[in-house]
Amino acid sequence: MTRIVTVANLKGGIGKTTTVINIGAGLALRGVKVLMIDTDPQGNLSSSLGVTAKHTLYELMIEGMDPARCIVAARHNLDLIVADTTLLTAQTMMSRGAEWGRTIERALEPIAQYYDMILLDSSGSLNPLNANALVAAHDIIAPTTVEPFSVRGLELLHQQMRTMRGDANSIKLIVPTMYDPRSRQALELLENLRQTYGSKITQPIRTNVRLSESPMYGKSIFEYDPESRGAEDYRVLVDRIMESLEIVATGNARPSIHQRNNPTSVAESGAQGDQNGSSFMSRPAPTYDLQVCPRCGRDVRYTSAAGYRIMICNSCNYTKQILIRNVR
Ligand SMILES: Nc1ncnc2c1ncn2[C@@H]1O[C@H](COP(=O)(O)OP(=O)(O)O)[C@@H](O)[C@H]1O
Ligand SMILES: [Mg+2]
Repeated sequence: MTRIVTVANLKGGIGKTTTVINIGAGLALRGVKVLMIDTDPQGNLSSSLGVTAKHTLYELMIEGMDPARCIVAARHNLDLIVADTTLLTAQTMMSRGAEWGRTIERALEPIAQYYDMILLDSSGSLNPLNANALVAAHDIIAPTTVEPFSVRGLELLHQQMRTMRGDANSIKLIVPTMYDPRSRQALELLENLRQTYGSKITQPIRTNVRLSESPMYGKSIFEYDPESRGAEDYRVLVDRIMESLEIVATGNARPSIHQRNNPTSVAESGAQGDQNGSSFMSRPAPTYDLQVCPRCGRDVRYTSAAGYRIMICNSCNYTKQILIRNVR
């Protein structure tokens, strides 16, 4: 079963996006097929992973666009749906419709089968998008800095879950972030958190400058500095998540959403994909049905000449000639 996991805390600047990027990247390296979705109009996920995309969550949710057109490959086993400020308009439009609280959940239904885990990043406020991201989740991971205000944000998140769902049981893990073991206040608050929330509290993510630098280079911590403390801490967290949320890594055994009209699965084709590059690089040869570029993942157009159909990428100018059967 695909786990839908939302990373949330009703406070900004406490390491939610950093956690999404690095657990997403870490799980993908462990062979888990991950789709990350940015539900924050600030749209930091794409730039933090050095990815650009033509279509966003707005088009998927509000315009009902084909999911394959909204999903871009960020890394091997790691796809992404980006966000931008259009999501601010989406909030007003969503709240006019019946069942508005399930807009994201419904949009994910046809996509889920292609992934082991769907990981949603959220913003730190009480708004319709966040409510949607919380409703859609099987599990919630709540990062919190070890400071009085963010611990309060955590309490509010528990309250909100009780109001929305009757209990806060879906908050499965609480991740202390930007932890400084030399600070007495941090040590005491961590101890309080452990007393209040017990085994839900994971091993903390320590403050590490490499974690704050890596988004500027469009890299996860495992790419930017795999020997850093940040990488070490997120590796431990990835293992804890796999164990606690019972995430199963199927890797290439699941077909790619971009090949859903093509019966040849990635596993059958033996495609492997390189760890740092785009998984599109190693997917099977394109067919007529392919609507996205196998190199950059963006829209393509087709033209015909001399018995060939020619696929041309609108963005990176990749071209591929496909012989039309029985013509030559
Ligand atoms: N463990 C950490 N050590 C140092 N800096 C961190 C750490 N975690 C996050 N940051 C930095 O803190 C800032 C806020 O983090 P971010 O993940 O964007 O928070 P949120 O998504 O909750 O708003 C960013 O500049 C980020 O690089
Ligand atoms: Mg964020």
